[in-house]
Amino acid sequence: MNPVNLHIVICSTRPGRSGEAIATAVADIARDDARFNVEVIDLADVNLPLFDESSHPMMGQYANEHTQRWADIVARGDAFVFVMPEYNHSYNAALKNALDYLHAEWRYKPVGLVGYGAGMSMGARAVMAIKPVLSALKLIHTADVGVSTMMTPVVDGVFTPSDPFILGTKGMLEEINKTHHAIHPLRA
Ligand SMILES: Cc1cc2nc3c(=O)[nH]c(=O)nc-3n(C[C@H](O)[C@H](O)[C@H](O)COP(=O)(O)O)c2cc1C
Repeated sequence: MNPVNLHIVICSTRPGRSGEAIATAVADIARDDARFNVEVIDLADVNLPLFDESSHPMMGQYANEHTQRWADIVARGDAFVFVMPEYNHSYNAALKNALDYLHAEWRYKPVGLVGYGAGMSMGARAVMAIKPVLSALKLIHTADVGVSTMMTPVVDGVFTPSDPFILGTKGMLEEINKTHHAIHPLRA
């Protein structure tokens, strides 16, 4: 069976962000699993402007080079993990913008969510807020993992995952793998 091309997306674009270290920990766990071919995608590097296409993304007619570049990245992913911060009880604007840019490239692909925040909600409100958007794009939500950066802080750029985080992430990868194989035919 071909490995699943898993894109782990760093959704925060903020200088000094915790997201990069958390995504690195998720990628390390996924790279230990031979079923996945892991690529870390950084929305800060993708560097999309605020949505600026004249056609609805459903048309797949991308006028801008940055859109085509982003479409190529998403198209080669079979599945995604969004490592997403909670900002003001929701998920961050850079992630919404990146989702809105495309349509067909997202459809019928599984997604796992690693939500995190400084508060005790562990990113849960961000995770709840994104679900209707995933549904609109036919991204199939599989499982989520929460992190409180107050309880498990990033220290000197390193996030040391707790045992529950590792267990939760492995469980999420299991769900992503199963869902990928079940829904892959729908992409044809
Ligand atoms: C604009 C803004 C709003 C925030 N709102 C929340 C919030 O509603 N709940 C929460 O738990 N943490 C909140 N935080 C804290 C962040 O989730 C926390 O600092 C996290 O590390 C941010 O991710 P990042 O460092 O990868 O950008 C907020 C931070 C910022 C910058």
